[in-house]
Amino acid sequence: MLTQCIGGWYAKNTSASAEPASLIRMDKNWQGKIALITGASSGIGESCAYFLAARGLRVVLTARREHRLNEIAQAIQQQGGQAHFFAHDLSDEQARLQLTQQIAELVGPVDVLINNAGFGWYGYFHKMDWLDAARMISVNVAATAHLTRLMLPGMLARHSGHIINISSIAGSLPNQGIAIYSASKAFVDAFTTALHRELRGSGVHASAIRLGPVKTPFFNQARNMKNGGSVPAERFAIPVERVNWAIWQLLQHPQRVMYLPGWLRVSRLVEPMFSGLIDRLGPLLLRRVEPRNEIRAK
Ligand SMILES: NC(=O)c1ccc[n+]([C@@H]2O[C@H](COP(=O)([O-])OP(=O)(O)OC[C@H]3O[C@@H](n4cnc5c(N)ncnc54)[C@H](OP(=O)(O)O)[C@@H]3O)[C@@H](O)[C@H]2O)c1
Repeated sequence: MLTQCIGGWYAKNTSASAEPASLIRMDKNWQGKIALITGASSGIGESCAYFLAARGLRVVLTARREHRLNEIAQAIQQQGGQAHFFAHDLSDEQARLQLTQQIAELVGPVDVLINNAGFGWYGYFHKMDWLDAARMISVNVAATAHLTRLMLPGMLARHSGHIINISSIAGSLPNQGIAIYSASKAFVDAFTTALHRELRGSGVHASAIRLGPVKTPFFNQARNMKNGGSVPAERFAIPVERVNWAIWQLLQHPQRVMYLPGWLRVSRLVEPMFSGLIDRLGPLLLRRVEPRNEIRAK
């Protein structure tokens, strides 16, 4: 019954049907496990919440937009899944502490933490509003590290758990236009790698997914911010459902890093091999955001 229900939802709501309805089913190994998904009010987090709930996990959703979390949690419950939500601004340290306490009191121990909340901005760094830059560091960097710090002791005590950090190939491509964003994802990459090594043999896993562009509201969000430009990579975006499958694969077979699409593993070679050329291109790659001579004139 649940299988049919969720299958119906997917058929109705996915533009690119990456998931045949026949494959959607509960998984006994994961039934009742608790997954905390940050940034679950849209895009990757929302899609992943439906996906994991369909496989029997109890999903805990968090983000700022309470009405979106409520709608998503209700839809999951109507389909027979289990969902809880707590609206918080994760750029706020106190909010992260409150979230952790609410989950401990009202839901239970977290088995899977998906650090997904985050946002981007495209343009010259000197034009970026400092409050946006500071918020990006708080959400993309501090919330990822802090929530991990808050969840890890429990996971270690239970000798089981998985932390999945949603990163980007931008972490190893510190290119023009994404100064703070690529630095934030470089942090996530280095943090996850170190953690993966620390946790070896503990029963707890840490993984990063280094994504290329994915079709989500991410690009509109970046464009709509003060002085924000259009991210050129948007046109190559893959369907969001592919990220769900990558997360699912990581949960079954934990590994330190996964690239999506897989061929993007070549991206880590671009900086060591072509950095001189990219330096020479200078702000050329940003031309569409602002004419080159405009920046020279200042
Ligand atoms: N889409 C891509 O091409 C792409 C590529 C590489 C990596 N990624 C990464 O994937 C992750 C998810 O992005 P997406 O593509 O799914 O974009 P999205 O649809 O814009 O989702 C971003 C999520 O983050 C939440 N968020 C933002 N600021 C927050 C805050 N202060 N407190 C709590 N939650 C906050 C948003 O919720 P509220 O607005 O309700 O707070 C939303 O749920 C991000 O970490 C992003 O860097 C995306």
